[in-house]
Amino acid sequence: MNQEIARRRTLAIISHPDAGKTTLTEKLLLYGGALDLAGSVTAKKKQRDTASDWMELEKKRGISISSTLLQFEYKNHKFNLLDTPGHKDFSEDTYRVLTAVDSVIMVIDAAKGIESQTVKLFEICRKQQIPIFTFINKLDRPAKSPIELLDQIEDVLGLHTFPVNWPIESGEFFKGVYDRLNKEVHLFERSVGGIYKAGVSIHSLSDPFFKNLLLENIYKEFVEEIELLDYAHASFDREKIHSGDLSPVYFGSASNNFGIELLLNGFLDYSAPPKPRQVLSGETLSLTDPSFAAFVFKMQTNMNPMHRDRMVFARVCAGKFQRDLKVFHTRTGKEIRLSSAHSVFGNERETIHESYPGDIIGFITNAEFKIGDTISSNPKIVFKKIPRFAPEIFAYIHNINTSQYKSFRKGLDHLLAEDIVQTFQIDNQTQNIPLLGALGDLQFEVLQYRLKDEYGVETRLEVMPWKVLRWLEVPVDKNFLKNKLSYREASGIDDHGKQVVFFNDPWDFNYFSNKNTEIKLLDFLTDY
Ligand code: G4P
Repeated sequence: MNQEIARRRTLAIISHPDAGKTTLTEKLLLYGGALDLAGSVTAKKKQRDTASDWMELEKKRGISISSTLLQFEYKNHKFNLLDTPGHKDFSEDTYRVLTAVDSVIMVIDAAKGIESQTVKLFEICRKQQIPIFTFINKLDRPAKSPIELLDQIEDVLGLHTFPVNWPIESGEFFKGVYDRLNKEVHLFERSVGGIYKAGVSIHSLSDPFFKNLLLENIYKEFVEEIELLDYAHASFDREKIHSGDLSPVYFGSASNNFGIELLLNGFLDYSAPPKPRQVLSGETLSLTDPSFAAFVFKMQTNMNPMHRDRMVFARVCAGKFQRDLKVFHTRTGKEIRLSSAHSVFGNERETIHESYPGDIIGFITNAEFKIGDTISSNPKIVFKKIPRFAPEIFAYIHNINTSQYKSFRKGLDHLLAEDIVQTFQIDNQTQNIPLLGALGDLQFEVLQYRLKDEYGVETRLEVMPWKVLRWLEVPVDKNFLKNKLSYREASGIDDHGKQVVFFNDPWDFNYFSNKNTEIKLLDFLTDY
């Protein structure tokens, strides 16, 4: 069991759209041996689109809404790669996926540096102390200087870096990288279209072949730069990597397959296997506990329109899963048999026979699951809740056709149970539908689309003016709070009864918090 756990690596790739996340995913699969030729993931994507229309919206918008699990074996390790939606509008789903991984690869476009979405996603990782590996991509194009890129990571994100490799020129002159830990120069050969692995030749820094490849002054500068790095970025501390305080940095080009193998090997060597997770009481549950236990981080209804089923994705945190295992849905106490647990590659399902901590299982159920729920063979095990992130847009949803009210209510209840948006109740308002909160418009679009597609109801959104929500760390008297708010602000509760305040913009929020320092406000909730 310990051996199985030690060989698991569960990760996600985060990036600003267009930095190269999809390309890198594909190349990791190529180098991991899961694909013979790059290009198949994209081909698979197209195939999936024609084979099933379970998320027609995905096609229409040309973006990936659903998270996909990709698994591959590499050097006797099992990689569980969770794909995260890249579109900025669908970030709540991304955030939840990040609670199910043990490490993250952050992709940065070398010409653009840190972009807005990178900052947001990074903050989520930092709050959860997820170890972060950095891949600086597109070195085959004109790029910012590597020093400038590192400085940006340190300054903008406040993350210490350890450049594991260092690029040898960039743009059309990009030749390879210097591996600082092994003191080796890796020179890359371009392959047509990047569909095959790139050829690599390895040299020492003083090898005349390498020296002759560069102009004399460029070689001299390069050697000096390496010496400078050894001075400025000297400490390679595994503990700091594992606690998320130090990011190993790799340079390369995903589309050309440059630096992918170094990244994959480095990731394997320096990333941590699954760590034990805390349960609600604060205790840590051993990975090898005799009871199987997992938590739900994602749900997808009607993945197969022929069956109208619901797939629940759970991250295994303790014990061993075997096919047909009976588990408790510990929030409701109901017992369910996991006879059809699946691993999922894109939209393809494969029955799982056994799983270990670190693995992701998907199973089909009609039981009322919520994000964060525990399933376990021990009914007493309940994991800590998945953190909640403050929504940034708010709206009421209305049924347009009164004769469809019943279907509207049923559909809304079902979809809200999936936690695809958050729900709130404004103080002193008697609306019988909750206020909805999301991180982006697309979450509302998905809700409306699915109400129409799956329940046949047309709806209208009434968008509210607020843009900032904060939870109160400690509850206060409702009227006391109300007196402190301006007419633009509102107070209320979330679906767990936690007090919240809605502000129009960050300026209003800052004004309020500076004036009312005794009221501690949170943008991130771990305990609810
Ligand atoms: P994303 O998932 O982060 O949104 O990015 P994606 O991989 O889709 O890459 C975005 C664009 O950047 C793609 O170009 C991709 O080919 C390109 N790209 C990825 N890695 C590199 C790299 O190392 N060097 C260069 N020069 N380009 C790279 P596209 O034009 O949008 O698509 P395509 O026509 O190439 O498929």
